[in-house]
Amino acid sequence: MTKDEIIASLSDIPQASRLIRDVVVKNKAVYLTLLINAQDRDSSSGLKETVDRRVRECGADEVHIRSKALGGTEWERMMSEGDQPASAVDEPDRTAPPQADVCYIAVTSGKGGVGKSTVTLNLAYALARSGKRVGIIDADIYGFSIPDMLGLNQRPQVRGQKVVPLERDGIKLISMGFFVEDNSPVIWRGPMLGRMLKSFLFDVDWGKLDYLLLDLPPGTGDVALDIHQWLPQAKEIIVTTPHKTAAHVAARAGTMAIQTKHEIVGVIENMSYLTDEAGQKSYIFGRGGGEALSRDLNTELLAQIPLQPSADADKPQSVFELNSGAGRIYAELAGLVCAKTG
Ligand SMILES: Nc1ncnc2c1ncn2[C@@H]1O[C@H](COP(=O)(O)OP(=O)(O)OP(=O)(O)O)[C@@H](O)[C@H]1O
Ligand SMILES: [Mg+2]
Repeated sequence: MTKDEIIASLSDIPQASRLIRDVVVKNKAVYLTLLINAQDRDSSSGLKETVDRRVRECGADEVHIRSKALGGTEWERMMSEGDQPASAVDEPDRTAPPQADVCYIAVTSGKGGVGKSTVTLNLAYALARSGKRVGIIDADIYGFSIPDMLGLNQRPQVRGQKVVPLERDGIKLISMGFFVEDNSPVIWRGPMLGRMLKSFLFDVDWGKLDYLLLDLPPGTGDVALDIHQWLPQAKEIIVTTPHKTAAHVAARAGTMAIQTKHEIVGVIENMSYLTDEAGQKSYIFGRGGGEALSRDLNTELLAQIPLQPSADADKPQSVFELNSGAGRIYAELAGLVCAKTG
């Protein structure tokens, strides 16, 4: 079963070359994007069934169709674009992972503000301190924050056909933040988001890496599906706070990982407790969330990271010192992650 066969089997569907995109064939699984008219979802559901059936008739055991709804003007613009054969949209060599021996780990959570970016960054530092070559993709395209946390804001250079990631303390970083002017909001929508992520994976000169961490936006939206499509081999770490409800919400991200067959490396409970000067711990955000979540997802609670008060009240600390409470826990965490993914 080849990509061309799949495309041929769909070619008599009206407007197939416009509506069906990003066809990826991996063994017996087929991934594709179906553009639908947000104003006419009813006709789209029939179309989705037809596509699913045709692809299965070609021999696919698994069909993953990601529907992307386009609103009025976007839809009209897309329909009036010149004809584009679906096969030209995505070059076949892009279906191979950029580097076969890199361990991709997506850091996710069901909810915003639980510390995904902080965890991504500190795990990156801990892995780098243990001698690993580490890169970060700030995949939070609308809410990028890692450039700020690292104080990096230059525009990356282009070498040959590839973008050179920025680097701090040996950690390579690429982020949407490097490509927008004056922190202006990113207004790209729909299929372009997937293309951005793909671009970060394939058009960036990462060099040799051991780990490429992906800081995901909160929730279980499109980016998670994009990762599923472009990086089916990615593993996931799920971040939660100790509160039981937070764990419940984070479970959705975990369920998503299970559906997309991403291996879950484990759960990290962040902001678990605050230690006072006498060494007493107070559990200000509740207790048990991380444990409950890892039990629900049948995985390991990798670490419980304390709240680390910042020395400067105006500026939250982004990278915890190696000799701080949180820093030592991150060092242990890196060892555990290496052992589980090595
Ligand atoms: N263990 C910690 N101790 C102290 N402050 C922390 C800790 N973890 C995260 N923070 C702070 O909490 C805030 C939210 O963290 P962060 O931005 O990493 O969360 P996020 O899940 O990436 O958020 P978003 O969903 O907006 O992307 C930040 O100000 C960060 O500095
Ligand atoms: Mg974040």
